[in-house]
This record gives sequence, C-alpha cells and structure tokens, in this order.
Amino acid sequence: MNQVTIRNLNIEDYDLVIKLWKSTEGIGLSDADSQENIKRFLHRNPELSLVAQKGGELVGAILCGHDGRRGYLYHLAIRKDQRLKGFGKELVSNCFQRLKLAGIDKCHIFVFRENEQGIGFWTKNRWESRLDLQIMSSHTDKIL
Ligand SMILES: CC(C)(COP(=O)(O)OP(=O)(O)OC[C@H]1O[C@@H](n2cnc3c(N)ncnc32)[C@H](O)[C@@H]1OP(=O)(O)O)[C@@H](O)C(=O)NCCC(=O)NCCS
Repeated sequence: MNQVTIRNLNIEDYDLVIKLWKSTEGIGLSDADSQENIKRFLHRNPELSLVAQKGGELVGAILCGHDGRRGYLYHLAIRKDQRLKGFGKELVSNCFQRLKLAGIDKCHIFVFRENEQGIGFWTKNRWESRLDLQIMSSHTDKIL
C-alpha cells in the first residue's frame, strides 16, 4: 500500500514530528523549533504545515508559512523507509496549493550546502538555486 494521508500538522503532533526531524539527516534544528515556537508558527500560519500518515503512523512532515509576500518551507522530512514513493512531492504540492490559495506565487527554502540529497530532490522537482543571493543572519538582541 503506497498511499499516505496528508493532513494539517497540529501542535499535538509535536512530539512525533520533532522525533522525526531529530532522526533525519539534513534537518537543522534550533531554538526556533521548541514546542512554544512551533506553536506560534502554526498559529501565525494556520492550515499550511502538514504531516503524512500511513497506516496510522506519522511518516513525513513539513513546515509551511508565508509573510504575506513570499512562501517558506522548512524541515521537509520523510521517514527513511518511506522515501521515493512520492510522499515528499505530495507534501510540497499540497503546500503549494495552499500558498496559491493564500495569494502567494513564489516560495523559498533554505538547504544546507552539504545536503546533496535535499538539493537533488529540489533540483529534480524544478526548484532553482539562487546563485545571485546569499543568506545573511543576525540575532535581534544584537546592538547595531
Ligand atoms: C528529500 C526528501 C524529503 C524526499 O522525499 P521523498 O518522499 O523520498 O521524495 P519523492 O518520492 O516525493 O520524490 C519526488 C521525485 O523526486 C525524485 N527524488 C527524490 N529524492 C531525490 C534525490 N535525492 N535526488 C534526485 N531526485 C530525487 C524522485 O525520484 C521523484 O521523481 P519522479 O517524480 O520523477 O518520480 C527525503 O529524501 C528526505 O526526507 N531527506 C532527508 C531530509 C532532507 O534533506 N530534507 C530536505 C531539507 S531542505
């Protein structure tokens, strides 16, 4: 049986989802992924983040949000034994449909440069690397 059920990620899924992310290579976790912060993200971006369930088990997850201008996907993960069955693509397609309905026509992701598998997936699915851009970050408690 190669079908999954895709449904909204709810804060009640947190323990299972964080377990999946922690055991998945290529996913970088930080303070932003505490239960409280994920709860706030889901509240600010209702009905956009998703999980994939198969036979009652959680086998995939993705965070999706937007800032009113561009969409952002984070932490796409499919459990190792369930890969290459189309589930990752299904999660992303579902997020795109929802972002489109929200009036968002472009979406970005952050991928670690050494994550060859992740980059392979996005490239195969026609995402473009932005060689013209560089990500820069700063903590908001820094005094400029
Ligand atoms: C990346 C990941 C989510 C892909 O999920 P998946 O369910 O195995 O991917 P799918 O089965 O939906 O693949 C969709 C298509 O992409 C292709 N594909 C999947 N992984 C690929 C890879 N690493 N390189 C090239 N193509 C790939 C599939 O062959 C399929 O092609 P098709 O539509 O022509 O049949 C999964 O490998 C994973 O969880 N990796 C670890 C976490 C990670 O790196 N996440 C991305 C963080 S930015």
